[in-house]
Amino acid sequence: MKVTVVGAGAVGATCADNIARKELAQELVLLDIKEGFAEGKAQDMMQTAALLGFDTKISGSTNDYSKTANSDVVVITSGIPRKPGMTREELIGTNAGIVKGVCENILKHSPKAIIIVISNPMDTMTYLALQSTGLPKNRIIGMGGTLDSARFKYQLSTALDCSPADLNAIVVGGHGDTTMIPLIKHATWNSIPVTQFLDAAAQEKIVNDTMVGGATLTKLLGTSAWYAPGAAGAALVESIVRDEKKLFTCCVSLNGEYGQKDICLGVPVVIGKNGWEKIVAMDLSADEQAAFNKSADAVRSMNDVLKTL
Ligand code: 2OP
Repeated sequence: MKVTVVGAGAVGATCADNIARKELAQELVLLDIKEGFAEGKAQDMMQTAALLGFDTKISGSTNDYSKTANSDVVVITSGIPRKPGMTREELIGTNAGIVKGVCENILKHSPKAIIIVISNPMDTMTYLALQSTGLPKNRIIGMGGTLDSARFKYQLSTALDCSPADLNAIVVGGHGDTTMIPLIKHATWNSIPVTQFLDAAAQEKIVNDTMVGGATLTKLLGTSAWYAPGAAGAALVESIVRDEKKLFTCCVSLNGEYGQKDICLGVPVVIGKNGWEKIVAMDLSADEQAAFNKSADAVRSMNDVLKTL
């Protein structure tokens, strides 16, 4: 297996580090536009191989896409990150051009690659990747819901004082502070509804803290987060390269599912060797479906901005 991570910033490097530690690829290429940056990160990571005992060969490239040739999976993290007080949506103008160019370059050398989009605003960047490449929809996966669901489990585990690994909880809809929908009524602690242990105020706090999870970290760190976004990208790579068929929430192209069309939005999907292989239907309450429709409206108006660029 060969995997490329485009963008050697904090998210890309963390994603690559996770991929190498888990030996998800024989070959891993880290690419960045900044001269020598990806090469430096790759060499630094390779110098952990003797300590951590992994076998993945990591190399860096300064914008030379020929080095990424024949990648099976490509993770796109390129673009400017959020600064404190910024929304993900404010990045659209700059990041749209970057993501479009990256997709074109990648496909010249890896026409069969499955693409995972992390760049923000993630829902719109996923839609752009799909529109601009014309790839089969199953090969374009937006990472957002995977990260947001992990953050949701973190908030739940803190409130319940339990292991996050024992929780089943997903966030659907967009990857924006106001567009994501943590489905708390469906969340369970090893099959027991979490709502059994949390009063209405506690539930509301968990949902709100999850929704502003990224913004909270941006404020604390002065830039957007990287450990969880990088790990979420690597978890998707793992399910693809090992054909695990795990159920994640990802931003994928909807064609009538969940009542939406011509949009990429977060829904539960099976991730395997063919990319996203199946959208899993779940029964949403009238309120949840209304929130999903509202989220779709907001993301659609973001997508409309692409037409003006
Ligand atoms: C986040 O939520 C980077 O969008 C990413 O932290």
